[in-house]
Amino acid sequence: MIEVKGLSKRFGDIRAVRDVSFSVEKGEIFGFLGPNGVGKTTSIQMMCGLLTPDSGTIMIDGKELNPDSTEVRRKIGFVPQETALYPDLSATENLRFWGGLYGLKGDALNSRVEDVLRLVELTNRADDKIATYSGGMQKRVNLAAGVLHNPSLVFMDEPTAGVDPQGRFAILNIVRELAASGKAIIYTTHYMDEAQKLCDRIAIMDLGEILGMGSFEELRDQVGKGFQIFAKGDFDGPKLAHQLRKEYEGEVLHSGRGLLAVVVADATELGRFVAAMKAQGVNADDLKIKETDLETVFLKLTGRELRD
Ligand SMILES: Nc1ncnc2c1ncn2[C@@H]1O[C@H](COP(=O)(O)OP(=O)(O)O)[C@@H](O)[C@H]1O
Ligand SMILES: [Mg+2]
Repeated sequence: MIEVKGLSKRFGDIRAVRDVSFSVEKGEIFGFLGPNGVGKTTSIQMMCGLLTPDSGTIMIDGKELNPDSTEVRRKIGFVPQETALYPDLSATENLRFWGGLYGLKGDALNSRVEDVLRLVELTNRADDKIATYSGGMQKRVNLAAGVLHNPSLVFMDEPTAGVDPQGRFAILNIVRELAASGKAIIYTTHYMDEAQKLCDRIAIMDLGEILGMGSFEELRDQVGKGFQIFAKGDFDGPKLAHQLRKEYEGEVLHSGRGLLAVVVADATELGRFVAAMKAQGVNADDLKIKETDLETVFLKLTGRELRD
């Protein structure tokens, strides 16, 4: 459906996107995961034709992206990070307005507006003003607007950012439904649990680059299937790692100021780890053990925590 090669974009001295390459098939949910400022929005805007790349190619259904082509515009749906809705108009009125911009009219427009309102489960609130909606509901109308013209390739830029857990759950199900109907979805998020649960494949992004790409299982196996112990406290991580090496065998995932993370095969290793720390006279203020997840993968690839 879409194939991107060597996509790059600079803003002055900032290399916002560097040599990004990937492809996405019909029915697939492809996620860009990374914290704020790593280039997710810039990437998406180039793929939608809203921003001109400095270099790289974007092929959609085997043809180079031409933002001026109506055929291409019809294929692409874009759900922007910021909602673009008129607060004094109802959901139906907002969607009719957007549909008009896509060239939909008459019965075709009305029936599509009904379809997308059903998809986002807002039929019963359709005639209320947007101003009376919760943030999550507004995000759902925004999403509805992006798929009104029934595109086969949908870009969604942080459609759940700032939405409460219940609202996020609803949005993830809508995204799954869209993919199940055969659309290719490109989805950005800074929530790692979401990328893990929702996306068929994930690109982990940092400082404009894709550092790792694959299914959650493939990415996880780069760290190992086991567990990681995270110790935080008032200590020098690298020094502690060195001290523990004599008494404790475990691969160091990351060590920094006040942080040491090690990979272990089994959760029962925690006891041995704590004993080894105690023997060095070091205390942890915060100690946890968890199974490998995307956050661990992110830490391994970037050397920093996703929550930074
Ligand atoms: N129009 C712009 N002018 C200058 N710098 C920009 C512009 N848009 C984005 N940037 C910078 O490019 C980088 C990537 O931004 P963005 O793509 O918005 O990241 P994300 O969506 O992952 O938060 C950031 O450093 C941001 O400040
Ligand atoms: Mg963004």
